[in-house]
Amino acid sequence: MREMMQKLRDASIQAILESENVESLEALRVKYLGKKGELTGILRQMGKLSAEERPAMGQLANQLRADIESAIDARRSELMSAMMEKKLELEAIDVTLPSEDVRVGHKHPMYNVLDQIKDIFVGMGFEIVDGPEVELADYNFTKLNIEDTHPSREWTDTFYFKDDSSILLRTQTSPMQVHAMETKPLPIRMIAPGRVYRKDEVDATHSPMFHQIEGMVIDKGVTMADLKATLNLVVEKIYGKGTVTRFRPHHFPFTEPSCEMDIQCHKCGGKGCPTCKGQGWIEVLGAGMVHPKVLAGCGIDPEIYSGWAFGMGLERLAMGEYKITDLRLIFENDVRFLEQF
Ligand code: DAH
Repeated sequence: MREMMQKLRDASIQAILESENVESLEALRVKYLGKKGELTGILRQMGKLSAEERPAMGQLANQLRADIESAIDARRSELMSAMMEKKLELEAIDVTLPSEDVRVGHKHPMYNVLDQIKDIFVGMGFEIVDGPEVELADYNFTKLNIEDTHPSREWTDTFYFKDDSSILLRTQTSPMQVHAMETKPLPIRMIAPGRVYRKDEVDATHSPMFHQIEGMVIDKGVTMADLKATLNLVVEKIYGKGTVTRFRPHHFPFTEPSCEMDIQCHKCGGKGCPTCKGQGWIEVLGAGMVHPKVLAGCGIDPEIYSGWAFGMGLERLAMGEYKITDLRLIFENDVRFLEQF
């Protein structure tokens, strides 16, 4: 029996050392130590031994079981750490390798222009405000002194939501003037860029959705001279020092007096070229002194406060800046187009 146990010891330890994975190791455990295993088989024969021999053999068998168990444990932890090492090796990432070609898109040229304008105004102490694109007709028209019969209120020009025509997609960013005056403490210096909507057919110069930037200053003693000086400064920052502007009289219901500002073409210096369509001048924005009726409607006393405002189209500015001749390219967002800027 002693001999049998010695044989079992040699064979089992050998097999355990040679086992190559935890599954085969577990099979060995069952084979040697399981209920129907080899050691159990040997122990069954204890009955044949004399009473004197039995305790020594029993002790030997217990020792053998303990030795096989610890051999299995040792091998198991060896196999586990080898497995872990292999896994780490397989999953290792070489951070110095170039990554796969991930296309991240490209900043839109219109946002280049918008960011430039934002920077200029923030530098002058203006606040950038955001507001609703779904607007009340009251804010888009009425509070801006736009009369009930004004053509821009027509169903053919404006996207309305309800039959009572009280809710619409804003046709201009000018309602942001009203929101600002109604909610902000005075004085106010703000710009409000955003989307606006009009029922226009899509072509090279029209889109039912486009962007405007509204600007407004309200304070005591604000005059048209402030309007001109500020906008001249902005234009010089965009188009370079010495850029010539002209302010033509115009009409907007919510400003009085009102004007349009042109710049002398920065490409040809006013001689006439494709950029200014031979005119020498490029129309940039509408502006004016905020109408006393609009101020009063927003709870601001026009006897104490005055202000100026402007509104300009962003697409047109970007198109001029980057010589883009078709408005549709701006909204198609084809990366091959965007990447050129
Ligand atoms: N909202 C006008 C438009 O869409 C542009 C405009 C003109 C805005 C004069 C103003 C302004 O703030 O004072 O045509």
